[in-house]
Amino acid sequence: TRSVTVPDLQRMRDGRERIVMTTAYDAVTARIADASGVDVVLVGDSVGNVCLGFENTLPVTLAMMAHHLEAVARTRPRALLVVDMPYLSFHLGVEDTLRNAGGFIRSGAQGVKLEGGARRVPVIRALVEAEIPVMGHLGLTPQSLNAMGGFKVQGREARAAVELLEDALRIQDAGCFAVVLEGIPAELAERITQELTIPTIGIGAGPGCSGQVLVFHDILGLLPGPSAKFVRTYMNGFEQLTESMVHWAEDVRAGRFPGPQESYMLPEPARDQVRA
Ligand code: KIV
Ligand code: NA
Repeated sequence: TRSVTVPDLQRMRDGRERIVMTTAYDAVTARIADASGVDVVLVGDSVGNVCLGFENTLPVTLAMMAHHLEAVARTRPRALLVVDMPYLSFHLGVEDTLRNAGGFIRSGAQGVKLEGGARRVPVIRALVEAEIPVMGHLGLTPQSLNAMGGFKVQGREARAAVELLEDALRIQDAGCFAVVLEGIPAELAERITQELTIPTIGIGAGPGCSGQVLVFHDILGLLPGPSAKFVRTYMNGFEQLTESMVHWAEDVRAGRFPGPQESYMLPEPARDQVRA
């Protein structure tokens, strides 16, 4: 089966077929995500908080992203493979941004995602000019944590809502092939989706987007503690996986593991010599 491409997403949007995107950070999560038939796999900088124990995405470096992208890319997913540009990998100028994003493309990414609106237009244009497809990301952009003063729903007042719509139009005009809308009111996301010609992919942005994205570990309930309002969990992964690990530990402690099926046995002649 051939891979999903950037133009495929536009065709899906035009045909009102909802786009499904999730994250993957290594070969295991990539294989599970791809086997589920999602359209887009994102190596998100959420790897920082989901896998690496950071409080937020700001400490995630280009090298960390490359490490995880390469693991995902080696599984050759059918889904479109997109990678996040981490904090400070696209803020220091066009040339630095091109080198950083180009390295990801060489590692097998089919596009990059970067946070921000009108301010990002020059780098978005340069990337598109260099044949690198760009997915935008607006609203509650986690790399803006310090500027936002916390993880808060964005675009709630009229001025901010209009600004978000303008940002969406500007990055579309700069050449983005899609845009993630995160943590904004459903009505605003629906309006942006109507105004744009490219697909919108929502997370905490209501049902009116061209598609939806959720973090892999959120869908499967793998993270301990309460999840955000916008998350729907499809299994209690943390509890269920822990329970299986507990059973294995009990079997070891009781001498039930390993059994004959999990052990290598000597062939007949050697057996007699070795046996006590
Ligand atoms: O890093 C990430 O996982 C993301 C998605 C939630 C959109 O940016
Ligand atoms: Na991200």
